[in-house]
Amino acid sequence: MSNVLSLQKRVDDGDKLTMVTAYDYSFARIINQTDIDIILVGDSAAMVMHGYDSTLPIDCAQMAVHVAAVRRGAADKFIVGDLPFMACRRSLADSVDAVTKLMQAGAHSVKLEGAGSNTETIAHLVESGVPVMGHLGLTPQSVHALGGYRVQCRSEQAHQQLLDDAHRLEQSGCFSLVLECVPAKLAAQVASQLRIPVIGIGAGNGVDGQVLVMQDLLGMNQSFSPSFVRRYLDAESLFTDAFNRYAADVRSGDFPDDRESFE
Ligand code: KIV
Repeated sequence: MSNVLSLQKRVDDGDKLTMVTAYDYSFARIINQTDIDIILVGDSAAMVMHGYDSTLPIDCAQMAVHVAAVRRGAADKFIVGDLPFMACRRSLADSVDAVTKLMQAGAHSVKLEGAGSNTETIAHLVESGVPVMGHLGLTPQSVHALGGYRVQCRSEQAHQQLLDDAHRLEQSGCFSLVLECVPAKLAAQVASQLRIPVIGIGAGNGVDGQVLVMQDLLGMNQSFSPSFVRRYLDAESLFTDAFNRYAADVRSGDFPDDRESFE
């Protein structure tokens, strides 16, 4: 299983890291058999598992249930648990409680969106022995402040702010950083200036690794097709076809047959 040291070494050696999201036991079990390095139990669960239109509604207790299910399915993978909306914005004690829930559910590390005053919380968590992954660029928990899901850091000022925040997160002790929806050139600049692994989503190819939401990668929702996603399967069509064939077999009397019945 990967750990923070082996992940860093892989990047130091010039390898690319692979991360994918998962939220349940069955898919975690499959990912556990693959070459994927890291499973992110993302708060994107709110959208792809629970059907909300943003990541805001999911809470720490729900995230802990997803983390525990993934851990049961993927005993051999390094698991990052996403800290949900506001989990680290009340008090340090509340932040510690939230992190404790995810770590005790089976995460090996946590991810926290944004920099700013979060860096004090991050430093405390790191000092307490918790590996923290940062997340900058498009931070979906701030979707309403950002005016929608859109590419970030277009201006010179925002460009500099991202570089400063990335350095601050590294200095606070983050073992890794996710960059979401930022221009590829800027993401590459961040990756070249930081020592820690920078993992991109919609951030081009000049970073140290990539992350995709599992449902996007598998093509489970053909009507959602952001340009930065590459689909490796048309799962929506495959699954629809399987359900329809089952329904047809039941209706025709073909299922179950004698072998699928008890004497
Ligand atoms: O929650 C999530 O899936 C994420 C990824 C998009 C990085 O944070």
